[in-house]
Amino acid sequence: MKIFVTRPIPEAGIKMLRNKGYEVVINEAASDRPAANEEILGGVSGADALLSTLTDKISPEIMDTGLPSLKIIANFAVGFDNIDAEAAKQKNILVSNTPGVLTNTVAEHTFALMLAIAHRISEGDRFSRAGLYKAWGPQLLLGTDVSGKTLGIVGLGRIGSRVAEHAVRGFGMKVLYTDVKPTPEFEKEFGAVFVEKLEDLLPQCDFVSLHVPLLDSTHHLMNETTLKLMKPTAYLINTSRGPIVDEKALAVALAGGVIRGAAIDVFEFEPVITPELKQLENIILTPHIASATEETRNKMAELAALNIIEALEGRIPPNLIK
Ligand code: GLV
Repeated sequence: MKIFVTRPIPEAGIKMLRNKGYEVVINEAASDRPAANEEILGGVSGADALLSTLTDKISPEIMDTGLPSLKIIANFAVGFDNIDAEAAKQKNILVSNTPGVLTNTVAEHTFALMLAIAHRISEGDRFSRAGLYKAWGPQLLLGTDVSGKTLGIVGLGRIGSRVAEHAVRGFGMKVLYTDVKPTPEFEKEFGAVFVEKLEDLLPQCDFVSLHVPLLDSTHHLMNETTLKLMKPTAYLINTSRGPIVDEKALAVALAGGVIRGAAIDVFEFEPVITPELKQLENIILTPHIASATEETRNKMAELAALNIIEALEGRIPPNLIK
């Protein structure tokens, strides 16, 4: 069995595959850049499994190049918008992702961003490093409390729910959420309130955190119109996918005081960041690292490997996408 790995991932997963006696070919050249389409085409040819990352656009052409041997595309990510899943289904190629193992880590990063933007951590750090701290001041860099405020969760999946849990249990926040359908058990446990329409949720929140997958229906969910529905004192947090936010509109909203701040881990045109955003003080930008802890990346590698092993041994992989 041959496995092609588009980019070097933690050894924990590679070891599992090698222990099975598989030939594991890793595209080592792509350690600090996305894999090139030609590299993936070359590697997938004759492969039984493709271990992909979120920077790889897995097209029908790549799938055809892998056939007839290719049985599974195992994505090293919970999101799988980089894969043409419909085409894979038609070609009888399985697709898996790595849910669950990164929930805590992404929820922690989401909270880190929320606390950091509210308490002006990055701004304060820049200020201090620039030698601008001359004296303690009663009104120096005033921020906003998170505790007791209202958090709007857009998308109550695993990560959204965990963020809500931290918000309620850790910070006594009130949680409102929107999703395709309500989750009554969650509401009972956390006192959360379902708001059917995004337009009705936004004006009520002090913080809005996005946790939806990237679909046609979620592209530019936050745009000029919806940003204007937020309170001028509110903050937007995005650890889901970049194109869910119209970055140009976000830059205008932040510069014009439509909202108070934003903290985002994902970008509309990743890895390019809309230049206007980089000029602003009231935004925190992290480079798509919400799941990037050693523990979690190891677990993601192991889970991707497990999905491949199960598929190649004729069992049902635990994380097939629907
Ligand atoms: C990261 O963005 C992931 O989808 O795992």
